[in-house]
Amino acid sequence: MRDTVRQWTTEAQHLVVLTGAGMSAESGVPTFRDAMTGLWARFKPEELATEQAFRADPQRVWDWYVSRREAVALVEPNAGHRALAAFQSRYPGRLTLITQNVDGLHQRAGSVPTIALHGALAEDRWLDAPRACCTADSIKAGRPPRCGVCGNLRRPSVVWFGESLPSAALDAAENAVQQCDLMLVVGTSGAVYPAAGLVLSAHQLGARVVMINPEVTELDIVADACLREPAARCLPSLLSV
Ligand code: APR
Repeated sequence: MRDTVRQWTTEAQHLVVLTGAGMSAESGVPTFRDAMTGLWARFKPEELATEQAFRADPQRVWDWYVSRREAVALVEPNAGHRALAAFQSRYPGRLTLITQNVDGLHQRAGSVPTIALHGALAEDRWLDAPRACCTADSIKAGRPPRCGVCGNLRRPSVVWFGESLPSAALDAAENAVQQCDLMLVVGTSGAVYPAAGLVLSAHQLGARVVMINPEVTELDIVADACLREPAARCLPSLLSV
């Protein structure tokens, strides 16, 4: 099956690759829903990944994201990240990378462009609409940092449950799906929308859909092929870079 998919990849003029946490698993970054090791097996998302949780206990949520930020800073992009970046560099414009990941590993591997649907772990932004006093210079260090004038908090620049995705990123992703003839869905359980909906749209628009995941997922039903392999082994061969 991999040879068939490799042929599809060679023939494809508009590849879209959607990645999830499994893409970074071989870099040592925990996924969210893997039974024993996933973050949501050890932490409660409603206590750490919602605006309500942050407003209720800003320090606890801020510290958790800082610990994830520090952990990701210690790991490296894997062969899968590098294969995608190499393909994008070798065939400019032919592969659109859309990621749910906030770890920045695609960007560190050199993937340009990367459409980041769920934000960036390494960045933060104002919790409430910034006033004139809320400037880079007014930020006072803390857990979390805040505006030294009005007290507006800084928050991780990631999409929390119940929040809308950045409209520019979602528009770019949806536009890429409209054009695509092959979608590789790598390392995602397909549990979260609207990201997972991009796969359904690609299928409905007639693109071939290939899942790259050692496990079954909720999206397998629309797949033309499922490669039960880890991303860092499969992608370098598939993209033959
Ligand atoms: N290669 C490919 N896939 C892998 C690998 C690997 N080496 N290791 C694990 N996987 C697969 C798992 O089988 C699983 O299907 O990666 C998937 C990870 O699924 P989740 O943990 O649900 O992560 P993801 O799909 O990215 O979650 C989507 O949910 O919590 C929110 O915002 C968070 O962006 C995240 C979103």
